[in-house]
Amino acid sequence: MNSFLVFLLVTFILFQRIRNSMSLTGMRLNVPRAVRAGHSVTLGCEYDLEGAPLYSVKWYREYVEFYRYVPKEEPPIRVFPLQGIQVDVSVSNSKNLTLLSVGRDISGQFQCEVSADAPLFHTQLLSAPMTVAVVPVGVPLVLVDKSGLEQGRPLIATCHAPPSHPAGNVTFFVNDEKVPGYTSETTTSTPDQLEERTARLELTGVGGSWEPLRIRCEATLFRLYRANSIEVEVKPDTPQPASVLLLETTSKGNAIFRIKIPQVIWIYVFKLLVKLNLS
Ligand SMILES: *[C@@H]1O[C@H](CO)[C@@H](O)[C@H](O)[C@H]1NC(C)=O
Ligand SMILES: *[C@@H]1O[C@H](CO)[C@@H](O)[C@H](O)[C@H]1NC(C)=O
Repeated sequence: MNSFLVFLLVTFILFQRIRNSMSLTGMRLNVPRAVRAGHSVTLGCEYDLEGAPLYSVKWYREYVEFYRYVPKEEPPIRVFPLQGIQVDVSVSNSKNLTLLSVGRDISGQFQCEVSADAPLFHTQLLSAPMTVAVVPVGVPLVLVDKSGLEQGRPLIATCHAPPSHPAGNVTFFVNDEKVPGYTSETTTSTPDQLEERTARLELTGVGGSWEPLRIRCEATLFRLYRANSIEVEVKPDTPQPASVLLLETTSKGNAIFRIKIPQVIWIYVFKLLVKLNLS
């Protein structure tokens, strides 16, 4: 074998040795990105000490320790009181930790720190965010205002997402094509401390003669909730042959959004005017 290759191989093996002796291999956090308020959740911390004895596993929320597992101690589990956190000790252990009836106030970064015992004493910490969410009830509502079209003003679609915590994400679809962004959004708080998001999409260049449009919106909250509004069909008052609609997007580098309508051979070019006037 080429001596340079041997050199590379030896260097690689040495490097791997050094790397392995400095960290725990395959450490992985299993923390859901979001969980429903009032439900229980199990957080996992996987690690491989490669034969070294475990010294401790510690869990923190925003760097404040609330759970410690030390196999040498009796009992091995210690829980430190932390507002809003209730550990189910009967099902928690060195790898998994179950929290009961989680409240919104515990949303934040969760950290797991694993330490090996003598002779290695390696320690590694990983962190992941978890949001305690209040999932919406109902579906979003889309409203379309075409009253300004005759005067050359845009067609306006507004999407009202049902109240949730935190505010959900809203996406518009025009003729089943996802619209990349929208013109503006507002978020208001409800009396029961939930957030309500309203997004507004202005389609310019609609006017004169145009084909009917189908507009709907989708609201999502992490992976916990996804719902579509009823689709609204918008037609010109006096239907005429198809023309080109313009919908301009500036948020994603002047992208032009093309829509193909199956029955028609025209390619519609939409341009979405995004003037982000977040209030
Ligand atoms: C931790 O939880 C995972 C997934 O739920 C499970 O596969 C594993 O056996 C659990 N480990 C321990 C030590 O309880
Ligand atoms: C909204 O979408 C962004 C981008 O996909 C995602 O990172 C975020 O978690 C979403 N927020 C909610 C509340 O679903």
